[in-house]
Amino acid sequence: MPKNISSKIFIDGGSPQETRQAKVLLGFLDGQTTNPSLIAKNYTAKAGGTKLTETQALDEYKRVVRQMSGIIPEGSISIQVFAQEETKADEMLRQARARKTWIPNHSIKFPCTKEGLTAAEIACKEMPVNITLVFSQSQAAAVYEATKGAKYPVFISPFVGRLDDRGENGMQVVENILEMYTSGDGHVEVLTASLRGVDHILYALRLGSDIITCPFKVFKTWADGGFTIPDTSYVYPVGKLKPIPYKEDITLGKPWQEYNISHDLTTIGIAKFWEDWNSLLQ
Ligand code: E4P
Repeated sequence: MPKNISSKIFIDGGSPQETRQAKVLLGFLDGQTTNPSLIAKNYTAKAGGTKLTETQALDEYKRVVRQMSGIIPEGSISIQVFAQEETKADEMLRQARARKTWIPNHSIKFPCTKEGLTAAEIACKEMPVNITLVFSQSQAAAVYEATKGAKYPVFISPFVGRLDDRGENGMQVVENILEMYTSGDGHVEVLTASLRGVDHILYALRLGSDIITCPFKVFKTWADGGFTIPDTSYVYPVGKLKPIPYKEDITLGKPWQEYNISHDLTTIGIAKFWEDWNSLLQ
């Protein structure tokens, strides 16, 4: 496929084999996102129920991202910190500083919580960061302000599929963030995540999302269909999904702590990442 689209294409997964296949199919690959659940799933598929010590599990994460980095040395690879809702910013920063030594093309993922943004505010002066588990325009305003003055690339990951899964129009959050960010300085790249089907890719391309991260299954369907690119007549099939309207009263320009960053899906998401990771441990 010729690289004639403005959005960067990432693969979302925990398997280096998928990274390799995706790169072959597309002809290029701009990056990779991982998370504790995906790394755990990949390990379990390979090793069944064999449990690991904490050091072995961390070594497994490191080994996998190193392999991915070898496949796309020119790409960006997101590595996530392990956190619970109550994990302090200092602990996340400690993990982030250790993870950034694993591979040169790292981006470190922090959850969109008070402690996560406190950590990211410092980290973005030291390394590329990716704020994950984003579900609202208000969280996106906080991410923008917390990372203002970043010295490295900043990604924000709105999770569309998890909103769709409960009947809300996740793509509208991407739309809303892109609209709100038009009044900003462009330092945050919008990374459309948690994709469930090719229409998520197509609409994200249509909207001009800076980055789109595709699970291999969705990616393969897109590949089998010849990597369709939407034209101006493309209409996203919203179906019965409930609208998430743009909020005019949420504007950039306030200290990040003043925005409402709580979202139940962020809370649920952190707990699930933690649980999946811990399921690997002895
Ligand atoms: C993104 O970085 C995440 O790994 C991912 O897109 C989560 O998607 P899910 O909702 O399919 O778990």
